[in-house]
Amino acid sequence: MSESSAQLIDQYVMKTYARAPLTFARGEGCKLWDSEGREYLDFLAGIAVCNLGHANPEVAQAVCNQALKLVHVSNLYYTEPQASVARLLVENSFADRVFFCNSGAEANEGALKLARLWGKEKKNDAHTVIAMEYSFHGRTLGTLSATGQEKIQTGYDPLMPRFVHVPYGDLEAAQAAMGEGVCAILAEPVLGEGGVIVPPEGYLAGLKDLCEANNALLIFDEVQTGLGRTGKLFAHEHWGVPPHVMTLAKALANGLPAGAVLAVEEAAELFGPGTHATTFGAGPVVMEAARVVLTTLTQGGLVDHAAAEGLYFENKLQLLVEKYGDLLEGVRGLGLLLGLVCKGKAGTALVKLRERGFIVGLAQENVLRFAPPLVVSREQIDALCEALDQVLAEGFEE
Ligand SMILES: Cc1ncc(COP(=O)(O)O)c(C=O)c1O
Repeated sequence: MSESSAQLIDQYVMKTYARAPLTFARGEGCKLWDSEGREYLDFLAGIAVCNLGHANPEVAQAVCNQALKLVHVSNLYYTEPQASVARLLVENSFADRVFFCNSGAEANEGALKLARLWGKEKKNDAHTVIAMEYSFHGRTLGTLSATGQEKIQTGYDPLMPRFVHVPYGDLEAAQAAMGEGVCAILAEPVLGEGGVIVPPEGYLAGLKDLCEANNALLIFDEVQTGLGRTGKLFAHEHWGVPPHVMTLAKALANGLPAGAVLAVEEAAELFGPGTHATTFGAGPVVMEAARVVLTTLTQGGLVDHAAAEGLYFENKLQLLVEKYGDLLEGVRGLGLLLGLVCKGKAGTALVKLRERGFIVGLAQENVLRFAPPLVVSREQIDALCEALDQVLAEGFEE
């Protein structure tokens, strides 16, 4: 008998992931099928990535057409797909320009480099960045230094210096950390990996005022919250607070690797030829996927659907919180980025849901995280909530 994919991966791939004992073979919309043909409803979307659903036919067609035409020439030349996506991003956001890359960490590295240039050119060499406790910004040395979670940093010291971490949602703490040496504040508009935490009213506006008063850049990491996930194209639109710089990745190309740094002209102009670059960024195939994603999302219907179904989902989860007050603390989140806060560890509930055919995630060990494809239907939300009701009725302490 030949080895299974799981055996081969366990043998040959570095062991950086604690994988579930599941080999997925196929997807469609919110559904996944494993190698044995068992069907699952996916409430994680590859960690907030496949917003248009798995195997979206329009994305697949655009990618296939482009792959047969031109795959790569580098950024030493112009290509049509990059032009379309750049225009879609700029015309539908606060930004004047975009830099394309390949992942969330790489986008945040780009934003941090821009912040360094800002400090050098515009603020007397200021280079401290105020970041948030429990934030997550990636796994490169720069972005894990920006990340406010020790478990991500362990083993990698010395870290990149000049990050000051303050409690998320605490404006006074950010004010106290601001000063002559600060070139930027970096924040997620909703903390994702940190536990799906929505900031208090006025917080993001307060950060913006603080930056403007101190000649510092406000950088929003919308890698997880961006592109329709929270019921608006970008999460910061909920509070009407556009940043100076924003990073995107995850959903940008519906599962193909794409990232972007968006910025207002005054910051964007600091990147000149030779100051920053990537070989693969904005490759034509990936950009064709991103073109379909952005065209679909900017037509509005799907983002409105995410807002409406997110509210419906949140209300249903709230009913479960009321029913199982001994096990659950509450519901947090916005749109289709929701966290069910448990009183103990949530890992057992995740496994029990998977055994019933539902894929969900964790954000910190006590929060069940839901980030389904935005095309999720009310019936699918009902099915998940029913399964969750059964799991809670059994109790799930570890
Ligand atoms: C807010 C945020 N920023 C950055 C990242 C890193 O993105 P990537 O894994 O594509 O490097 C993530 C990934 O989960 C994220 O949630």
